[in-house]
Amino acid sequence: MSRLRVFITRCLPTDLQPLQQIADVEVWTERRPPPYEILLAKVKEIDGLLCLLSDRIDRQLIEAATSLKVISQMAVGYDNVDVSSATARGIPVGHTPGVLTDATADFTWALLMAAARRIVEADKFTRALQWQTWEPDLLLGADIAGATLGIVGLGRIGQAVARRARGFEMRIIYTSRKRCEPKLEVSLGVEFVSFERLLQESDFVSIHTPLTADTYHLFGASQLALMKPSAILINTARGPIVDPHALYQALSCGQIAGAAIDVTEPEPIPADSPLLSLDNLIITPHIGSASRQTRKKMADIAIENAIAGLQKRRLPYCVNPEVYENL
Ligand code: GLV
Repeated sequence: MSRLRVFITRCLPTDLQPLQQIADVEVWTERRPPPYEILLAKVKEIDGLLCLLSDRIDRQLIEAATSLKVISQMAVGYDNVDVSSATARGIPVGHTPGVLTDATADFTWALLMAAARRIVEADKFTRALQWQTWEPDLLLGADIAGATLGIVGLGRIGQAVARRARGFEMRIIYTSRKRCEPKLEVSLGVEFVSFERLLQESDFVSIHTPLTADTYHLFGASQLALMKPSAILINTARGPIVDPHALYQALSCGQIAGAAIDVTEPEPIPADSPLLSLDNLIITPHIGSASRQTRKKMADIAIENAIAGLQKRRLPYCVNPEVYENL
């Protein structure tokens, strides 16, 4: 019997040996993702695909992958994968939830605090040798303690962000598709409100919802217009949840005070994006989960999922368990 074949779309920060024991593994070693045409050619001859959020795994690609037994994505989000096409072909799709919750919540807080207290601007100011003396009104920012934090999407990461907010004695409000159990609300100290009220009452709004057809451009001109002029928007979820043109307008005319985004639409941010010119915006390159231990854990889970799929076992972390229903 010929060996199973696996393609990994980038070098991973972990040991590939467990996978290599059961399959021939080819790794795309370049820094940038494999071009779509190359991926399309590759999937025709593989049994397992281990991919990243920057790979477009669409219907055409899935239909071309006639021997594919598993798609294992090293990320919690999977909006880049056409899951319904995979399900239609009976291919399980794996992801890596849980292990990146704390790292992403920590990073959300790093962005929130940096935006509130203008740390990036202050660093630039200091390096430009503009620091002349202590001034009572130099680089004034927003208060965090006692402020209202609005969380959009109270899943694992939203909850971890809320837990951290309690240490800052914040009022925490949230909105989500489905209201949480009262017990969870009490233990987190959060209050459920409508999206509109959340926008109107929050000093900080933090986005923790997946990208779906319903959340695409959830933050457009009219939503940003409801926010306080002193408010700060944080996005560590997915870029297309916020309309970049509306965000530029809101930030450049002072409709909101600031924003910090770890994700953009598209990624990477285009060189001519007007967002790059704004001092009241912090932009980082989608590194919310990028702590050494977290990225290793994500890679290990992605390998675990891939091995399970190749061995026709249930994936430990599967996004389309319905593929097992008719077995
Ligand atoms: C990162 O954005 C992830 O979905 O894991």
